[in-house]
Order: sequence, then C-alpha cells, then structure tokens
Amino acid sequence: MKKKYYITTPIYYVNASPHIGHSYTNIAADVLARYNRQGLGEGNVWFLTGTDEHGQKIQKAADEAGLSAQEFVNKVSGRFRDLWERLGIKYDDFIRTTEERHEKTVRRVLEILYAKGDIYQARYEGWYCTPCETFWPQTQITEQLCPDCKRPLERISETNYFFKLKKYQEWLQGHIEKNPEFVLPATRRNEVLGFLKNNQLEDLCISRPKERLSWGIPLPFSPQHVTYVWFDALINYISAVGEFDANGKYISKWWDNDTKVVHLMGKDILRHHAVYWPIMLECLGIRQPDTIFAHGWWLIDQAKMSKSLGNVVNPLDMANKYGIDTYRYFLLRDAVFGNDGNFSEEAIIKRFNGDLANDLGNLIYRTLTMVEKYYQGAVPGIEIDKINFDLSGEAIKNKIKALSGEITAEFNQGFGFAFEQALEKIWELIAMANKYVEETKPWNLAKENKTEELKAFIRLLVEVIRKVSQEVAPFMPATSALIKEQLGADIIKKGQPLFPRIDTSKKS
Ligand code: MSP
Repeated sequence: MKKKYYITTPIYYVNASPHIGHSYTNIAADVLARYNRQGLGEGNVWFLTGTDEHGQKIQKAADEAGLSAQEFVNKVSGRFRDLWERLGIKYDDFIRTTEERHEKTVRRVLEILYAKGDIYQARYEGWYCTPCETFWPQTQITEQLCPDCKRPLERISETNYFFKLKKYQEWLQGHIEKNPEFVLPATRRNEVLGFLKNNQLEDLCISRPKERLSWGIPLPFSPQHVTYVWFDALINYISAVGEFDANGKYISKWWDNDTKVVHLMGKDILRHHAVYWPIMLECLGIRQPDTIFAHGWWLIDQAKMSKSLGNVVNPLDMANKYGIDTYRYFLLRDAVFGNDGNFSEEAIIKRFNGDLANDLGNLIYRTLTMVEKYYQGAVPGIEIDKINFDLSGEAIKNKIKALSGEITAEFNQGFGFAFEQALEKIWELIAMANKYVEETKPWNLAKENKTEELKAFIRLLVEVIRKVSQEVAPFMPATSALIKEQLGADIIKKGQPLFPRIDTSKKS
C-alpha cells in the first residue's frame, strides 16, 4: 500500500451556483480524505478541489450578470468555498484556474508539448457547438445538432492548434487494459475501452481564436489564441501540487510514486479524464493517476439535475432543513457510488426516520438513558473482553472487533469506493445492538437484581456506540464528535435525542 494519498474533485464551472450534484463529489472526496487521514496520518493526505473559471460559458454568464469576467468569477468561486465550509468539507487546497500558479503551469505545458511537436497548427473546417465549446466531427453528428446539448451547431473555418491524441491511442488502450483499477467502475472502464476500440481518436483542438473568445490563457507561441478550457482545466491537478523544473521535469510531493493519486468525477466528464488527461500526462513524461472514478448522477424524476431544466436543488437548503450530517449520510447511503440515484426529500426523510432516528439515535438515547437511570451517569467500569456473554452478546463483541476491517475492505479491496456498503456494515452493528436490548429486557435484569449482568450489558452497548462513533467519523464528522463528547464526559447525560423523528403527517 502507498504511504500517501492525493484525491481530487473536478473543478466546478462558476457560471452558476453549486447544486447537489457538485456537493456529491466533494462529500465523497471528503469522506475518502478523512478516512485515509485516519489510516495514513494527517500529513499524508492531500485533498484538492477548486473552480474552473475560463471559457465561453463563464464569459457569457458574466456578461449576463453585467460584471467583468474577473469580478464575476471571484464572486461565484466564493460561493463554492462557502458551501464547502458549510458542508464540513475539509479540503487542503482550493485551486482557481485564474490564479497565476495555474496559468504559469498551463503555459509551461503548452511550451513543452509544442517544442516536442505534439501540438501543431492547422486549419479547422467543421462543426462547432459554441455553448459546449466543442468541435464535432461529421461522423458524430446528425441534423447539425450538438450530440451533447442538442443545440444547433455552427459551421466554422479557422486556424487553430491541435494536440496529437491520435498518435497515443494505442498506448492509452494498452494502459487501460493493463491497469484494471485505472478507470472505475468496471462498466465505465468497458465503455472507454469500447469507445477506443471502435473509434479513431481525432486530434484535439486546444485553442480558440481571441476574436471569438478572449477569456482564457493566451498560447505562449500564438498570443492571438487562447487555450481551450478543458485543456486548461485538466492541468489544475498538477498545477496545484507541483512545478516543472528548468528541464521540463515535473516535481511534486503529491504526484510521486509513493502517492496513490485518485480523481473523482461524474460520468459525464469521464471521457475528458480518461482520454485527454492520460495522453497529456504521457506526453509530459508524468506518471499516470492510479484511479479515475466516475460516479453516477442524482436524478430528479428520472431527469438529470441541470440549470436548463430548472430542477436544481440547492445543497444549502437541504443541509439547513435536515442537518449537514443527514445530508452527507443520505447521499452516500442511498445510491451505489457509480450508479445513478433518485433524489427526493421523501427519500431523505425515510433515511432520517429509519437509519438515523430509529436505529442510531434510538440506540444512543436508550443506552445513555440507562446509564443515567441505573448508574447516575457513570459508565460501569468493566472490561467486556473478560466477560462471557450469551450468543448474541458474543456476536456483538466479535462484530465490534471486525468492523474496521470490514470497512477497509469496502474502501480498498476489490475496486473499493463502496460507501453504501461500508455504512451498511456499521448499521449491522447498530441493528445487532438494538435487537440485543429488546431480547435482554434490561428492565427485568434491574428488577431481578441481576447487577453484574446489567453492568456488563450496558457496558457492551456503550462500546458499540463508541465503535460506531469512530467508524462514522469520516461520513458524519459532527455527529461523531458529539457522540464522542457525550461518552467522554465523567458523568454522562442523555441530553436530547440526536435525530428526533420527522413527523410526516404534518405538512411543512
Ligand atoms: N469544469 C468542468 C470540470 C473540469 S475538471 C478538470 C465541469 N464542471 S461542472 O461544474 O459542470 O460539473 C462538475 C461535476 O458535477 C461533474 O463531475 C458532473 O458530473 C457533476 N454533476 C453535475 N450534475 C450532476 C448530477 N445531477 N449528479 C451528480 N453529479 C453531477 O464539468
């Protein structure tokens, strides 16, 4: 296993406010970062997020807002940062593509690839989707509409710069075939491989003439052109954590052979990450990331959430209404990471009332109530390891011991990233403990003066809660801290239930 861990999210376009789709990737990355910090040590994990601030979309949104592009991006980028603070996202660095550290690296990359002959000038005649900033070959279009956004394409003819993707197609296919964890999940990997087998890559146009678009990084060898926004954006993953030396060698603490490099993103931008980016790195002589993971989409009534459909849900509203940890829990529990999920408030409430109120909240509340009632808040000082419980009690003891390993397996073995499975393992323990309370009927133990049994029983429940609070920490950091605080007190107070049931009979 590698000693260090570097995880990235996409950098988000600042043409609109963040929505739950954006928050999904950042919450997942935050959980992985927190989880790996526990195992590798705080200083051995780096979590990068940021904003993508150049290009047509941004220029247009700034014009519409009546602001200069720079003013506009400053404002919207700030909204992303604020949201991450609010959602408890503990990133290590936030990169903006308008920062000098980034622009400098982009210029360096362009110079290196141009000098190597992997970027060349040519005349382009063909179809272009202005809103998507994408050139489309004749073979991929029908009825002169953009295959992605379905808006009309424009016919253009201009001199541009191209990056030699075609030359590296065979190499890329081989790399993906040899490294089963390079593109995940497996279904997506097969899609990328299928695409490479059935299509010949076209070289990528990486410039836009300034007269058409000026909001971008000028090409160092042709100031009349700016860099295509995707070529600019992908470089953030290296511009944030390292530099090129005088000989064009890239040096970084977080992109060396001791580091596991993981890119998370949604499935719609996998092609850019699994085709353009590896080829760019290969040309630059930089090692490949270990894993490029594409998660699914959150759908609303089967449709993707998007500004144009007007069905965007604001993550802040959800966090304010149901609590930050509930929101984090819901997103990672309710859909398989990699598949699409259906978002609805009913689904959140169902998880809340079931998993959080009935299962976790109830276990904590009933246990602390008993500690207060029978022992005036002082947890019985017993070592559960020295006690022989009945079958159910022993099973709980074993599950407490096994749980960390089970979670590690969900995160690291096979293809990992099984957040919902990891949570399920934790909830198995919670369910066993709740069932044990019902089976044991502690109030009878008390009545019958079975003092030693009662002590052991309650101590076991406290240990379950302690374990759960440790294991949910990456997912629900505030809840975990609260439970730990309650358990850490000399005299435990039951306080208010952590997750009071939401009454669905009343309409809000
Ligand atoms: N700026 C580019 C990324 C450049 S990375 C070098 C971009 N930005 S974006 O803001 O449009 O989208 C960012 C991410 O949000 C993508 O990973 C996309 O998949 C994700 N989501 C957008 N809508 C989504 C859902 N409805 N559900 C889940 N994630 C989705 O693309």
